[in-house]
Amino acid sequence: MSKKNVEYVCQNCGAAYPKWQGKCDSCGEWNSIVEDVSATEGFSNLPTKKKGKIIDFVPLSGEERALKRLSTGIKELDRVSGGGLVPGSVILVGGDPGIGKSTLLLQVSASIAASEGNPECYYISGEEAIDQVRIRAKRLNLEQTPVKLASSTEVKDIIATLEKSKAAVVVIDSIQTMYLDEVESTPGSVAQVRACAYELIKLAKRKGFVLFLVGHVTKQGSLAGPRVLEHMVDTVLYFEGERGHHFRILRAVKNRFGATDEIGVFEMQDQGLVEVENPSALFLAERQGNVSGSCVFAGIEGSRPLLVEIQALVSPTSYASPKRAVVGWDSNRLSMVLAVLEARCGMNFSSHDIYLNIAGGLKITEPAADLAVAMAVISSMTNKALPADMVIFGEIGLSGEIRAVSQASARLKEAQKLGFKSAITPTNLVNKDKKNNHRLDISVHEIGNVQRLINWFN
Ligand code: TYD
Ligand code: MG
Repeated sequence: MSKKNVEYVCQNCGAAYPKWQGKCDSCGEWNSIVEDVSATEGFSNLPTKKKGKIIDFVPLSGEERALKRLSTGIKELDRVSGGGLVPGSVILVGGDPGIGKSTLLLQVSASIAASEGNPECYYISGEEAIDQVRIRAKRLNLEQTPVKLASSTEVKDIIATLEKSKAAVVVIDSIQTMYLDEVESTPGSVAQVRACAYELIKLAKRKGFVLFLVGHVTKQGSLAGPRVLEHMVDTVLYFEGERGHHFRILRAVKNRFGATDEIGVFEMQDQGLVEVENPSALFLAERQGNVSGSCVFAGIEGSRPLLVEIQALVSPTSYASPKRAVVGWDSNRLSMVLAVLEARCGMNFSSHDIYLNIAGGLKITEPAADLAVAMAVISSMTNKALPADMVIFGEIGLSGEIRAVSQASARLKEAQKLGFKSAITPTNLVNKDKKNNHRLDISVHEIGNVQRLINWFN
């Protein structure tokens, strides 16, 4: 009898080891490594006598087929996916439990199913019973749409069924609940997730339907199951948002058919997810003018300008080492901004706790927020409010210089649209972007370094 190939696989990142160990060297997770019999079995079972076929090579140039995209009828999703769904493509949708993945995908299937020509949309739930999905459909007012609903976890049954269909869109909610009986491990394990995804993806490519896979995320916020899942699919979308807030952001982190920095903004209402046409207005809705420690950052998310409020609170510390708490931004970046203010402007934060918050729960990654963060911190430290109708953007360098950032005119235009009257920006922005700017009715203070910023503010 042939010996079984046993591997020990980390359920968090998919790294494989010949022996069991308590901690995964690759991702640092404890107790995530389990015995996996079938992970390598597939290869040892390959028939060895079969000879390979000769493959054809072609030149790089050639007639390309134009991608025909399927519009979802949901503009924010179309934007994130790069202009609509590409037939035969596979989209992994990740997000915390309860964030609204099932709601979004039910709305997407309903919208496509009800569109012209009634493309066939299949919604297969492995997590919820038919009744539960029906209740949601009713709540969303979608119960009359021709979506084909099933509750199943058997990948073989699903494949046999879809094989005979004219599916245009298939939603699998979620891939962690799917099961293939050839694989000897439990649903949700690396081997199962990988094998089930592989079979479903193969079918999607062959039949040319759009496949949505819902994926769970771990405590750390990465997609549960093997990293390979992210490599196997064409597009990875994260659905994020804060529990206490009603808006949700759909973010592309990988996209073979479009840009990856686009976001889609939705609001979770009583009757499901509603697209947000003007996200800046939403993020600034609860802002109170003339408060120290608050300023408005003119950011860019993907191709779209987005204004958000940055709040800082600097207060005397009662600890030996002062506290730095950041929500929505990179805490290393805050340390850097503080270090620059201390070294270049003689400020001292060693006896102060600093709290930084991006209002509304949005996460910002742009370095262009540096200047707005610095300004919020300075404003809180000096207890002096900034003009309420002012926006700020610019990157801060280690020598205190304020560096230019991309798409300045788009940021200013958005600010003007929302009624802002002035802006603090990096220098030589107007020279660079003169044509675009001179139509703007917003007064721009160009500031070259942080020392000048402080002089200007005092
Ligand atoms: P759900 O789509 O089940 O989340 P996921 O599939 O990501 O786990 O969304 C569940 C949450 O959304 C739940 O807390 C209730 C809320 N919700 C609304 O606020 N309005 C609605 O119309 C629906 C359907 C859900
Ligand atoms: Mg769900």
